[in-house]
Amino acid sequence: MVPPSITRILRYASTKSGICQEASMSLTKDYVRKHLCKIVELDRRYGFFGDKFENFAQKHICVEYSSPNIAKEFHAGHLRSTFVGQAISNIVEAPGNKVTRINYLGDWGMQFALLAAGYKKHGDDTLLNQNPVKHLHDIYVRANRSEGKDKMLETARRIFQDMESNCPDSLHFWRYCRKISMEKLLKLYESMHVDFDSYDSEGLYVEDTKKLISELKSSNLVKTLPNKALGMDIGGTSWYQSAKALATSDVMLARGDGTTLYLSRDISAAISRHKKFSFDKMVYVTDVSQANHFIQVYAALERLGYDWAMESADILKHIGFGRVIGMKTRTGDSIFAEQIIDEAIRCVEKDRLEHSTRRSCIDNEEDVIRKLALSGLICADMKSKLSKDYKFLWSRVLDSKGDTGIFMQYTHSRLQNLKKNCGYEIRLDVDCGHLISDPIATDLFHQLLKYNSVCWTAYSELQPSHLTNYMFKLAHSIAKAHRNLRVKIGDVPKAQARLLLFHCAQITLRNCMMTLGMQPLDNM
Ligand code: ARG
Repeated sequence: MVPPSITRILRYASTKSGICQEASMSLTKDYVRKHLCKIVELDRRYGFFGDKFENFAQKHICVEYSSPNIAKEFHAGHLRSTFVGQAISNIVEAPGNKVTRINYLGDWGMQFALLAAGYKKHGDDTLLNQNPVKHLHDIYVRANRSEGKDKMLETARRIFQDMESNCPDSLHFWRYCRKISMEKLLKLYESMHVDFDSYDSEGLYVEDTKKLISELKSSNLVKTLPNKALGMDIGGTSWYQSAKALATSDVMLARGDGTTLYLSRDISAAISRHKKFSFDKMVYVTDVSQANHFIQVYAALERLGYDWAMESADILKHIGFGRVIGMKTRTGDSIFAEQIIDEAIRCVEKDRLEHSTRRSCIDNEEDVIRKLALSGLICADMKSKLSKDYKFLWSRVLDSKGDTGIFMQYTHSRLQNLKKNCGYEIRLDVDCGHLISDPIATDLFHQLLKYNSVCWTAYSELQPSHLTNYMFKLAHSIAKAHRNLRVKIGDVPKAQARLLLFHCAQITLRNCMMTLGMQPLDNM
């Protein structure tokens, strides 16, 4: 519990002026020491434990993110979904919820059938064997060109019908594409330190969806839309009433030829996941352009009579993030995940070569550079409120100073080095009088105190930017303290008090970085 005097001072902390002097008058050395000991004791749990998280009821939360489409490129939007989804999963997992991380691959639908149609016409088995993903991407681009597209779509429609009726020939190509895409994806995720508990996919729900459609046909819940499509009126649902942006209250569940749709497969997937996981929350992370799609999915589920899908149940949630503007290669082409990561790696490498001081002797430099590059990208993606678009500038993302992932890593590894090289051991029985008499130390201490309430805000709003912005402020306080409060000094009690403060700062910074999905470095 924070004592009343501290609460008063924390209020000062949020104003811009003179917090440190005020703080130093009211902080007691005993309180500071106790809190620092608590941080050491809680260690990885510091932040998402105690205070606001007291009496915390554990829930089962499913988070679906990344979800790229097979045989198509993994683009900047999928990359953002991956980073954001991973951070949100970590945030909800930290206080003790059970989290199931789901990747819902886009492996079905007319887009895939169009690729298959394109392959029938332009495919080359030798090129496919040499570089399958590239060849399939080229084919997809060709199939989408306007000349001859109508004919191509006609073939795609036939192929799609075959796929939906389990025709072995069309499924053979699908299985192949799925396999090579999965192999590539798994490598990518491994290099990004991203994990999933379940690889789900649209194709897995075709049978369920067909069954649902045939059951619904004889009910009064559905109606016939133009072109004999099967539709449902979601007008009376709670979701439809609070959604303003839906042009019509009809949703389409099946095409005239009986085939399933993205929407109906999502409905079946939600029903099946609810049966399987009995989730208390199901969070979907995609870009904002899919917001209406999810409202339609939830509304259809509500119309089908699933109470857990009602808006008031507060179980189904879509987190929509804005576009990343200007994420292009240096030559101006639009860019895919691997290229983005490779470019980030190149920038970090170049920077290290130019600043020879940063070329310290470390044996795993390649790994360090990759982690730095990813940290830069992660922070850029989670700096501002998710729903906002943001402008991507390589120079800003990978700057080694300022509010960037690279600076967070520098700050963290500096603290690790300080602890290693200062010549003192970390002790808990220190005299914190040496800290409360110093405005720079008290400022840093106040940052550490705030972490718990920042975690709570990030948790309750599912908004990683609260953590990111806190982390930037924390790193700046650390940097200031690092410049001003030397530990390698002869005054042993003072040195030990400072060392404990720096140790706690390192724990807090590390926790924050890890929750956001970064891999804190000890050396760089
Ligand atoms: N594969 C989709 C895309 O790339 C994203 C899937 C989002 N999740 C869902 N349940 N619909 O746009």
